[in-house]
Amino acid sequence: MSDAETTPTQTPVAAPAPGRSITVDTPVAKPLPRREVITRRIFLLGGFWTALGLAIVGFLGSPLDFLWPRNLKGFGGPITVTPDQVPKEGADPIRNIEGKFWLLNLKAGPTTAPGADSPGGLLALYVKCPHLGCTVPYRPDFTFNNVQGWFRCPCHGSTYSKDGGVKVFGPAPRPLDVFPITVNSDKTLTVLTGRAYEGTGSTQNPARTIAYEAGNKTPPKK
Ligand code: FES
Repeated sequence: MSDAETTPTQTPVAAPAPGRSITVDTPVAKPLPRREVITRRIFLLGGFWTALGLAIVGFLGSPLDFLWPRNLKGFGGPITVTPDQVPKEGADPIRNIEGKFWLLNLKAGPTTAPGADSPGGLLALYVKCPHLGCTVPYRPDFTFNNVQGWFRCPCHGSTYSKDGGVKVFGPAPRPLDVFPITVNSDKTLTVLTGRAYEGTGSTQNPARTIAYEAGNKTPPKK
C-alpha cells in the first residue's frame, strides 16, 4: 500500500513567518434596537376606552344633533309678514299659511267677546284649536249672538271672537293661543311661531295687541 492511499489529502498551510502574527476578522453579533412592545394590558385598555368613547358619541350624538337648532324656516321659527299681508284696522283677519296663524288688526275699544276690551293693534293667533287640535277657520258668514263673523272650529263647534280669539262657545278649554310679534323698521312683521314661543290663550288676548309702529313688540310672557 502506497502513502497516497493511506494519508488524506491536505492543503498545505503556509506557516507564519517567524515574528509575524495573523489577524482574523471574526464577525460579532450586535443587538437590534429595542422596539416598544404593546403589552396585553395596554391593548385591552385602549380597546376599552375606544369602545366607550364610540358608545358615548353614538348615544349622545344623535339626540344632540336632533336638538341642535338649525336655520329654521317656516312654522316653528320666525315668519316674516310683509305690509301687504297685514289687515287694515278692524278688517277681517288674514291667514298666514306658512306660519299657521291668523293675523288680526283690532280697533281700540270693546270687542265682540263680552268684557274683553282692546287698546287696538296687531295680534297673531295660532290656528290650532286648543280643544283637540283641529285647524280653526274664520267664518265671516257665521252669526252668533247677533254678531256676524267668528272663528269657529269645524270639529266640535268651539267659537272664538274674530277680534281676539276669545272663546264664547264650545268645549275648548281656553281662547286661541297667541304668537309674539315684532314690528320691524320697514314695517314688516316678525312673528315667532311654534311651541317655544306660544303664549297660552286667555280672555286677555284682545289686550295683548301691539300698535303697528316700527320697534313695537309683544311683551314677554309673564
Ligand atoms: Fe276644536 Fe274640538 S277640536 S272644538
